[in-house]
Amino acid sequence: MPRQRVLCVIGTRPEAIKVAPVVLELRRHAADFETQVMVTGQHRQLLDQMLTVFDLHPDVDLNLMQPNQTLQDVTSLVMHGMEKYLSANRPDVVLAQGDTTTVMATAVACFYAHTAFGHIEAGLRTGDCWAPYPEEFNRRVAGLVARYHFAPTRGSAMNLHREGMPPSSLYITGNTVIDALTQVLHRTQPPPCPVPKGAPYILMTCHRREIFGAPVREVFETVRDFARAHRDVYVWYPVHPNPNVRGPAQEILSGVPNVLLTEPLDYIAFLHAMNGAYLILSDSGGVQEEAPALKKPVLVLRDVTERPEGVEAGTCLLVGPHRDRIEAALDQLFSDRALYNRMTNTPNPYGDGLAARRIADILAGRGQEWLLKP
Ligand code: UD1
Ligand code: UDP
Repeated sequence: MPRQRVLCVIGTRPEAIKVAPVVLELRRHAADFETQVMVTGQHRQLLDQMLTVFDLHPDVDLNLMQPNQTLQDVTSLVMHGMEKYLSANRPDVVLAQGDTTTVMATAVACFYAHTAFGHIEAGLRTGDCWAPYPEEFNRRVAGLVARYHFAPTRGSAMNLHREGMPPSSLYITGNTVIDALTQVLHRTQPPPCPVPKGAPYILMTCHRREIFGAPVREVFETVRDFARAHRDVYVWYPVHPNPNVRGPAQEILSGVPNVLLTEPLDYIAFLHAMNGAYLILSDSGGVQEEAPALKKPVLVLRDVTERPEGVEAGTCLLVGPHRDRIEAALDQLFSDRALYNRMTNTPNPYGDGLAARRIADILAGRGQEWLLKP
C-alpha cells in the first residue's frame, strides 16, 4: 500500500486521551503513514493539559473555544477550519474519536469534501437522539459518514451492523482509552493527594449538558448532605470549567470541610486519584470505561448509558441524577462489603491496551482479522 497521509482531529479532553495512542502508533509506522494532528480547541485548558501529558504537538490549531459556547458556534467553526485544511492538504484519511461536536462537524466536512473518515469508538448507542444530548446525534452522524468504524466492543459493532453499515467497514479494536490508561499508569507515580492519608474518598466528575439546571443541583445537594452526615468520608471533585456546572458547584459544595473542590486534574493525577478512591460518582463516558480496568465501582449519574458493558459486568450502576437512588447506593456500598467486592471483582470489557495497534494495522490493509463476524 502507498504511504498514507492521515489527519487526526482532537477537540476536547477525552478525545486527546483516546486519540493520543493512535497518533503515537501511526508515528511509529512512519513508512506507512505521514501523520498530522489538528486540534480544534473546542476545549482549551482541559485539552492543553492532555496534550502536555502525551507530548502531542498539533500541526494545526483552530483555537475556537469561547466562554459558554453554543453547539452552533463549535459546529460552524470546525466545518470552516476543516474545509480549509482539506482543500489545502487533501489527506487520504481523517480520524476522530467519539461523539463531541468536533467529531460530528469533522465527519460532515469530510463527507462534503469526499475524504475518507475513520471513526474511533464507533457504534455506541442509546437509541435516543435526546439522551445523551447532543452526543447520540453526533455519533450517529459520524457513523453515517465513516469508511472505517473502529468499534470498541462486539456490542457496539453489532449496533452498526443492525443499522446496515457495510460489513467491510466494521472492525472490533477495543477502546483506545485502555491503551492510554495502561501506558500512563505504568510510567508514572501518584502525585500528592489532597485527601488526608488513609481517609476513604469518593471521586466525583460531572459535566454533561443533559443534567444542567435542576438535575445538577439535585446531585450536588445530595453529595453535600452525604458529606455532612459522614464526616470521615471525603468527596474529591475536580470541577469541569463549564460555567453551567462550576457555578452550582461553588454555590452548593464550597465550604463543606470534607468536600474538596479542585481544578481539573491532568490524566496522570486523575488516574491515580481513581486508583485511590473508594468509589466514583460520575456522568463521564471515559470514566465508565476506565473504572472496570481499575476495579473501582462507579455510580453513574445518568438514566441510560451507551456503555452497557460496564453495567453488565457489574462495575457500573446507573443511579441517574436522583437523590433517592444516589443515597441508597452510597449507603449500600459503604455498609455492604460483599456488594462492594462484587462490584470490584469484575472483568474489563473495554479492551487489552492494543486498540491503537489494530487501528494502524487496519489502515495499512493488514487488519482483516479484526472485522466483525456477525
Ligand atoms: C464537551 C462535549 C461532551 C464531552 C465533554 C468532555 C460537546 C457538545 N460536548 O462538553 O460530549 O463529554 O466535552 O469534557 O461536544 N471550558 C473552559 N475550558 C476548557 C473547556 C471548557 O473554560 O478547557 C468552558 C467554556 O466556557 C466552554 C464550556 O466550558 O464554552 C463548554 O465547553 P464545551 O466543549 O462546549 O462543552 P463541554 O461541557 O465541555
Ligand atoms: N479526566 C481527567 N481529569 C479530570 C477528569 C477526568 O484526566 O479531572 C479524564 C478521565 O480519566 C477520562 C476523561 O478525562 O479519561 C473523561 O473526560 P470527560 O469526563 O470530560 O468526558 P467524557 O468521557 O464524558 O466525554
